[in-house]
Amino acid sequence: MAPSLSLLLICLLALYTPVTSKNECGRPPLGDDKELEGFQRVYSPGDEVVLSCKRGYTPSSGSRTIICTASGEWTKSRLTCSAKSCSFPEALDYGDMEFVDIVYRSIINYTCHEGYILQGASTIECLYDGQWSDPPPKCTPVICGLPPIPKYGKIVYDRTLTGNTIVFGFGGTYECFPPLVLIGNERGSCSTNGNWTEPPECKLVTCSAPTGIKNGYMTINDKREHGFKETVKYGCNVDYVLDGPVEIECLKTGDWSMKPVCRGSCKIGIKRGRILFNGKTFWIEGFEPNKILHADIVFVFCMNKENKCGYAVSTQCIDGKLNIPACFEEPSGITYQLKYNFLPFEIAQW
Ligand SMILES: *[C@@H]1O[C@H](CO)[C@@H](O)[C@H](O)[C@H]1NC(C)=O
Ligand SMILES: *[C@@H]1O[C@H](CO)[C@@H](O)[C@H](O)[C@H]1NC(C)=O
Repeated sequence: MAPSLSLLLICLLALYTPVTSKNECGRPPLGDDKELEGFQRVYSPGDEVVLSCKRGYTPSSGSRTIICTASGEWTKSRLTCSAKSCSFPEALDYGDMEFVDIVYRSIINYTCHEGYILQGASTIECLYDGQWSDPPPKCTPVICGLPPIPKYGKIVYDRTLTGNTIVFGFGGTYECFPPLVLIGNERGSCSTNGNWTEPPECKLVTCSAPTGIKNGYMTINDKREHGFKETVKYGCNVDYVLDGPVEIECLKTGDWSMKPVCRGSCKIGIKRGRILFNGKTFWIEGFEPNKILHADIVFVFCMNKENKCGYAVSTQCIDGKLNIPACFEEPSGITYQLKYNFLPFEIAQW
């Protein structure tokens, strides 16, 4: 009795153990493009399955049936499925498109050039039926209204305006009625946001009455307000040199352009010695009048004690100031009178 009961138990257990037999086939490999009808976890040898192409794919001719073989493998299918193709897209006027392929699931991205607005779908997809999801979009130009015109001014269009619409890029040049002055952008155009660029203003520009300069004068004593672009000339008193422009101009801003400056002359501050000026040497007491102008260059002589020779050192008159080089040693009165040929400017030069 006992052995038959235990045999029954073993048989019951056997029924519940998982299937590991090599003689059965699993789910056939399908890939992304194929499918089969019905679903079974396992198939027995001899079972047949009919494959088909998924939606969006076109089947090739050839056997669609595969069979589970005795060895537990599926026979090879000759069915191939190719993705359906959508029509080749036409080029987009005033825009660009980007795509890699035009088959089922492919995407085209559309963009418009600057100043154009995309009307329609910016992205379209090739659907399973070989049709694009949307018609291709269009790029239409940005449209501006009429330009803003400054008071007392006008705009001269680059081209004649045809019709009533002004599209992106269309522009012109602003002008002010004289004597008003244009302040701001001279050019105006319909910009990408559909607005015109900022218009200029037409203003009356006056500069305050010009003022004189130190150690100089205005050539015409014209102490009144001046208009835009009017000019005033300057000069310097005797012994002064003009540094900067001779003429100043009334600017758009209502300010004058930079005024010149009169720079003073210099006295050569040595009592005894010789100088070199404009290629000639002079004893200082013979240099009359003792005066050089701003920016003039003069040389004094210094002694190189080691080599017992003299050398010329330059210095420049800067607005009334002339520094005597530190190496210059003024001789005593006696040396100057009696031993002048031992002074640096009389002995051999370098
Ligand atoms: C289309 O645009 C999307 C989003 O910007 C991007 O991920 C995709 O790569 C683009 N496709 C192509 C073909 O350029
Ligand atoms: C265009 O101009 C109007 C009026 O000045 C302004 O309200 C609007 O913000 C401007 N649009 C853009 C995109 O700048």
